Amino acid sequence: MSVAERVLNNADLEKMVDTSDEWIVSRTGISERRISESDQGASYFGQRAACQALERAGVRAADVDAVIVTSVTGDQIFPSTSCLIQSAIGASNSAAFDVGAACAGFIYGLEVATSMIKCGTFDNALVVGVDVLTKFVDWTDRSTCILFGDGGGAVYMEASDDERGVLASVLKADGGGARHIHMKAGGTLNPASRPLQEGVTPYLFMAGQEVYRFAVKAMEDSCKSVLAKAGMSIDNVDLFVPHQANLRIITAASDRLGLSRDKVFVNVHKYGNMSAGSIPVGLCEAEAEGRLKVGDLVMTVGFGAGLVWGANLIRW
Ligand code: UT7
Repeated sequence: MSVAERVLNNADLEKMVDTSDEWIVSRTGISERRISESDQGASYFGQRAACQALERAGVRAADVDAVIVTSVTGDQIFPSTSCLIQSAIGASNSAAFDVGAACAGFIYGLEVATSMIKCGTFDNALVVGVDVLTKFVDWTDRSTCILFGDGGGAVYMEASDDERGVLASVLKADGGGARHIHMKAGGTLNPASRPLQEGVTPYLFMAGQEVYRFAVKAMEDSCKSVLAKAGMSIDNVDLFVPHQANLRIITAASDRLGLSRDKVFVNVHKYGNMSAGSIPVGLCEAEAEGRLKVGDLVMTVGFGAGLVWGANLIRW
């Protein structure tokens, strides 16, 4: 995993917008977040996380078959961030492509890699989840600037006969909800070369309450579906690693699922919402803290702009 070094805490934000530590902590659970520097894009964190994953797996970059990057904050519109990371880490014999599913990106990426390994397209894959959404934050908008942080993580997966890996996934989308979270400027409808049109900003927009309501239900539904798909129950889950957007959302969804707090991994208080980076960073930290051991059943769940959502059930 690799997160931005610079810490922005709630006291810092109190000096920037009309907010308070009390409001931010009680509404989101976030105390501080990490902010990237101006010369650090998604590939900066992605390549560091990818190198770590390969080192821990004892695999040479030249032996990687696929570099799959899940991100909506690529360094550039093109080429893909996966190509930039592939080159930076020296994965010279691999395919490279991006999967864009916002905060559910890593959920999608894990299933794409699993399916392509299972059907024989690749023998192995490196899946990187990384986002640097603070680049698109309006630092005068108190309803969004308190929420996000920058960083990401990576996992290495390979074909094997043992039972480890992704057992089941649920991937969902509702493009009718695109208006709830978006970033309009810089795309092909509003190219960076043109003056901004009425209603188009170079900042992330989010209708917080709509997303909140959608998130709790999407988390509950996709977790129940993925468990049913694998023929398992919530009692089989050893650790729940949800997308880290808001502690209230995580708690509400965990309660609806009947998960005890000790099975729920939380790090949103120190990183904020790292979008596609939050679940892989959570998995890396959970393992480093000894909360995730070989053979454990891990459930991940994510939701975000699209709207998209989904869950994976993983035998670690
Ligand atoms: O990963 C992407 C997915 N995104 C999410 O998961 C975000 C989901 N949504 C949320 O987490 C919450 O909706 C927020 C944290 C964004 C907002 O919390 P909320 O409890 O839904 O607050 P609200 O939007 O209903 O705002 C309540 C009040 C408003 O004031 P009035 O109109 O009641 O006077 C806001 O203007 O809180 C005000 N407010 C703030 N006050 C102090 C909004 N932001 C702030 C702030 N500090 N930073």
